[in-house]
Amino acid sequence: MVPNHVGIILDGNGRWAKERGLSRSEGHLEGAKNLDKLTDYVFAKGVKVLSLYVFSTENFKRSKEEVDYLMDLFVKMFKKNFTEYNKKGYKIVFSGSRDNLNDDVINVMEEVTSKTKDNKNGTINFCLNYGSHKEIVDACKKIVNDNVDINILDENLFEKYLYNDLPGIDLLIRTGREIRLSNFMLWQLSYAELYFTDVLFPDFDSKEFDKALEEFNRRNRRFGGIDYEKKTN
Ligand code: IPE
Ligand code: IPE
Ligand code: MG
Repeated sequence: MVPNHVGIILDGNGRWAKERGLSRSEGHLEGAKNLDKLTDYVFAKGVKVLSLYVFSTENFKRSKEEVDYLMDLFVKMFKKNFTEYNKKGYKIVFSGSRDNLNDDVINVMEEVTSKTKDNKNGTINFCLNYGSHKEIVDACKKIVNDNVDINILDENLFEKYLYNDLPGIDLLIRTGREIRLSNFMLWQLSYAELYFTDVLFPDFDSKEFDKALEEFNRRNRRFGGIDYEKKTN
C-alpha cells in the first residue's frame, strides 16, 4: 500500500557538508538538488500529498549568514521550479508563519501558490517558517476571532483552522540520525508511522525512499482497533 500523505523532516545537510570538508551552504544546495529528484519519485509512486519540513520557526536561531542563504535558496528554487511544477501538475501550498520572512520570500510563495492552485497531480506542502506549536496557537486565535460556537467546535472543524486543510500524515520520514520531531506537524502526525534513518538528506535517494515504503508496508496500522492481521511483505 502506498501512503496517501508522506511527511519528511529533511535533516543532515550540515553534517553531510562537514563530512566532506564543505560549507553548510554547500550542504543545503545539495539537499535542494536532491529534493527535486525525490519529489518526482514520490509522486510517481502514487503518494498524493508530500509535506516537507524545510525551515522551522526555531531555525531563526542560526547565524544570519545561514538564514540568509537558506531564504535566498528558497526564492531561487521556487522561481526555477515554477514552470516544472505546472508542467507536472503539482499544487504547491505553504504551511508556516509569515513573521520574520522577507518580502522576496513572501512574494514568491504567493505567486507559486496562486499559479499552481488548480493542479491535481499531487500536493507539495512546504513547511517554511513552520512550528506546530505556533500552528495550533494561530488556529485558536482564528477560532476566537471568528466567534466560533464552542458547542460546534470539534476535531474536524479545528482542522479547518490549521494552515492547510490536509489529511493526516501516514508515513513520517526523518533523515539525518536524530530521533525526534522538532516541532513538526504534531496534530497531523497523531497516527503516522514513524521512520527514522541515519542517511543524511542529500544522500536520501529513491532507493532509500523505497526502503521507507517497504518498512511502512510491514507495519500493522490499527488506529486504536484490534486488527492483528499479520503483514506478509
Ligand atoms: C536540515 O539540515 C535543513 C534545515 C534545517 C534547514 P541541517 O542544517 O539541520 O543539517 P545538520 O542537522 O546541521 O546536519
Ligand atoms: C528540523 O531540523 C527542522 C528542519 C528539518 C527544517 P533541525 O536540524 O532544526 O532540528 P534539531 O534542532 O536538530 O531538533
Ligand atoms: Mg539539523
